[in-house]
Amino acid sequence: MHRLFRATTGFFVVLSCVFFVGMVRPSFAQTDLNGYWDVRTPNPSLDETFRDTYFEIQQSGETISGALIRRPNGIPITGTFKDGVIHFVTVPPAPPAPPAGSTAPPRPAQRSITYDGTYENGKLMLTSQGRNGTVASVGERVTKEATMPPAPLPLPALKDLPDNGLARTPPMGWNSWNKFGGRVDDASVRGMADAMVSSGMSKAGYVYINIDDTWELGRDANGNITSNKKFPDMKALADYVHSKGLRIGIYSSPGPKTCAGYEGSFGHEGQDAKTYAAWGIDYLKYDLCSDLDIYKDDALTLQAIYQEMGQALQATHRPIVYSLCEYGRAAVWTGWGEKSGGNLWRTTGDISDRWESMDRIGFSQIKLAPYAKPGHWNDPDMLEIGNGGMTADEYRTHMSLWSLLAAPLIAGNDLRTMTDETKSILMNDEVIAIDQDPEYKPVASLSSDGGIEVLMRPLHDGSVAVGLFNRTAAPAEAQFARSSLPTSLTGKRVKLRDLWKHDAVAMDGDTFKATVPSHGVVLLEISAH
Ligand code: GLA
Repeated sequence: MHRLFRATTGFFVVLSCVFFVGMVRPSFAQTDLNGYWDVRTPNPSLDETFRDTYFEIQQSGETISGALIRRPNGIPITGTFKDGVIHFVTVPPAPPAPPAGSTAPPRPAQRSITYDGTYENGKLMLTSQGRNGTVASVGERVTKEATMPPAPLPLPALKDLPDNGLARTPPMGWNSWNKFGGRVDDASVRGMADAMVSSGMSKAGYVYINIDDTWELGRDANGNITSNKKFPDMKALADYVHSKGLRIGIYSSPGPKTCAGYEGSFGHEGQDAKTYAAWGIDYLKYDLCSDLDIYKDDALTLQAIYQEMGQALQATHRPIVYSLCEYGRAAVWTGWGEKSGGNLWRTTGDISDRWESMDRIGFSQIKLAPYAKPGHWNDPDMLEIGNGGMTADEYRTHMSLWSLLAAPLIAGNDLRTMTDETKSILMNDEVIAIDQDPEYKPVASLSSDGGIEVLMRPLHDGSVAVGLFNRTAAPAEAQFARSSLPTSLTGKRVKLRDLWKHDAVAMDGDTFKATVPSHGVVLLEISAH
């Protein structure tokens, strides 16, 4: 009885507590989230830097709308805020429909990002699902002005900069971005310099070890750019790379932020050029990124933007290769890239380690070849060879096509762990010799039919390189006639060498024919006998 009483009482106590808590549960006075927020997320590379994402939140009762602030257009958000708990998603715009008659696959829709969290002590404690799993961020209120790009600074008056005498043949080296992204650090760069030498890459001509985005921290009290925790001593790293007989490159943006959201050179161009020179830097990739939010992207404005850093680099009197990265805007190849001091300029958006990307970029470049010349090269982006997303045939196409185009050969794989197959592609000296031909003459199309492309590039000694490419999904026959060779070769007996088989091959009468594997290439050098 006693026990029953106790149990019953206990039950009623619990019940009444539940009831009571339900009755007096503090209903959160709904906080007003309306306004601007800076959501700071630690960069995945744990280098103590943060990425700022700005939101304009509009709240109506429990409904959240507004935008993730992007220029020129924000990405709408939609969600709820109730009892201190917030949930919202970004609603990326539908991708543009492919133009009528286009056979290109439709662009995939952008991923929507989900944010969940709570409002605590004036801050939004959020988690979101990013590419690297769940990411925690903290949102703080900011003014509208803080979400806006800075006002433009005056740009220099245009003038044609002198040729710096560098890059007489397309630059060759390695860059961290394609393989490492934000995970590049001092140890991996040193490792890459070691491997560049031990693998034979440096002997094959690869000389630049280029650190891409995410090395930056911020600025010291004097406004000097500083490197983050991943790069404790840039000067010592440059000395190390030089001690291997190699050269070292670095990356920045004319905008306040780089493409990965790190510190850019905006307003510090001259100072940064001096810092790079003091560190011993030999190559700068200068990536437009957030400067697009500040200035227009017409040719004259872009020329002035790039000239500013070009001038600053030349003023250091250190030979620094100047690599323009503005994705081919305002036809950089038509002259202003060179005038601004550029040794090479990106002609397209970013490559990825997929056949579709490499194929689309590579074969769209042939018409630009006449614009390149020693010291001033078209750059269809870095190599993906050895990164694993394409077949060996596709990587041989990549190497052959980039060499016929006289594109910079900037490897983007992990040089420390290359397979023999990757080495045989990146270090095919006969193919590299085409890329590095000392008297640049542009590649031209001999024929383009149903996915079979035949390209020819004249070489300095009167011979020619001919690439027969098969862009289709099945093996196919490709051919060209002797009559399509330059007159210096048509009347003569010629010898043909297959640069991937490293062997002689023959014409069949007045025609050369070969079966080319799907996405593959037959690359020949043809010379007088
Ligand atoms: C841009 C460039 C890339 C790389 C990244 C780094 O996307 O085109 O090559 O440098 O920025 O953030």
